[in-house]
Amino acid sequence: MSPTTQHELQLASRMSRLGTETAFEVLNKARSLERQGRSIIHLEIGEPDFDTPSNVVEAGVDALHKGWTHYGPAAGLPDLRQTIADYVSRTRGVKAVPEEVVVVPGGKPIIFYTMLALIDEGDEVIYPNPGFPIYESMIHYVGGKAVPIALREDRDFSLDVAELEPLITDRTKLLILNSPHNPTGGVMPRKDVEQVARMIGDRNILVLSDEIYSRLLFDGEHFSIMSVPGMQERTILLDGFSKTYAMTGWRMGYGVMRADLAGQMTRLMTNSNSCTASFTQMAGIEALRGDQTSVDHMCAEFKRRRDVVVAGLNKIKGFSCRMPHGAFYVFPNITQTGWKSKPLADALLDQAGVAALSGTAFGAFGEGYLRFSIANSMENLEQALDRVAQWANKNL
Ligand SMILES: Cc1ncc(COP(=O)(O)O)c(C=O)c1O
Repeated sequence: MSPTTQHELQLASRMSRLGTETAFEVLNKARSLERQGRSIIHLEIGEPDFDTPSNVVEAGVDALHKGWTHYGPAAGLPDLRQTIADYVSRTRGVKAVPEEVVVVPGGKPIIFYTMLALIDEGDEVIYPNPGFPIYESMIHYVGGKAVPIALREDRDFSLDVAELEPLITDRTKLLILNSPHNPTGGVMPRKDVEQVARMIGDRNILVLSDEIYSRLLFDGEHFSIMSVPGMQERTILLDGFSKTYAMTGWRMGYGVMRADLAGQMTRLMTNSNSCTASFTQMAGIEALRGDQTSVDHMCAEFKRRRDVVVAGLNKIKGFSCRMPHGAFYVFPNITQTGWKSKPLADALLDQAGVAALSGTAFGAFGEGYLRFSIANSMENLEQALDRVAQWANKNL
């Protein structure tokens, strides 16, 4: 019998407003080319190519053996919430308490829950563009008005406060910051963060500060808006384990925010996930409290690759690339190739066997750029550079 049904699928109208993450689509296309026998170098997906540190794996396995296989509290295990509160207090120079911490399955749910909890139809949310595509997707999904703030190359992809000011209106409810930044690798200098805080002043605007790459920093300092006096209670800090501890598949992240809002996010957890996996959380305690050598090692390796890839890209005809200061992406300007971003990304995949993302996968202001993830071996990165260079020599 055919699995199809005669009845039309009547989706809720909000589903038409839901966006996506192109990285997964490009990955699927690249995999299908591989099945046809093609050799593809994967520089599309944003996940560390390292294993989860062994002490963290062991803590997870140990927790499984000890029976941490049941439901836990919706907001997270008390021990992990305490550990996160201590970690955030130490790293952001604030006094955070466990009641302000919500543990969720990955960083993404904090984005989703923030929108669900705060944004009504017509409320305005200012978000970075280019930027992580889930911000815009979620704003649209809940019926908010997505207001992009351009991040420009000549400012090293930090936010220009002069451009921010005219975007703030009486309907602005939320501002999203992301530093270190996906897709550009830009890092907001302390003075820019402080200027943003000053601009918000005493307006009733919350800031979702996505700091998931805070430990993957190559130069300078990571400065959180939460650290600015008076901003702690207006900041929703998003951080997690996926990138720092190469734990993408464990699904664990967290938000730190004023306790009343944390209570509301906990209600959303109760209604959607019940809780984050208990043994995963036990591994999370070890990740934050245990030996940090693997984080330093991973960061040093990304820095080494960044230097090689940026130097290599700058030698390719039509490409010019700024030095990213954090995360694990490079974001070269390709305007001199005479190609638009999307067709160029498609051509590099189809003709050169290099999977990259079009800058436009991160919003309209990503036109003129490509994103390459450097979460691949040095050998593969060097081969990718060769392939792109050869393609450019032949086609430009
Ligand atoms: C800026 C940014 N925020 C959040 C996330 C989500 O991370 P997670 O996999 O923990 O949900 C990502 C993942 O790519 C990201 O790049």
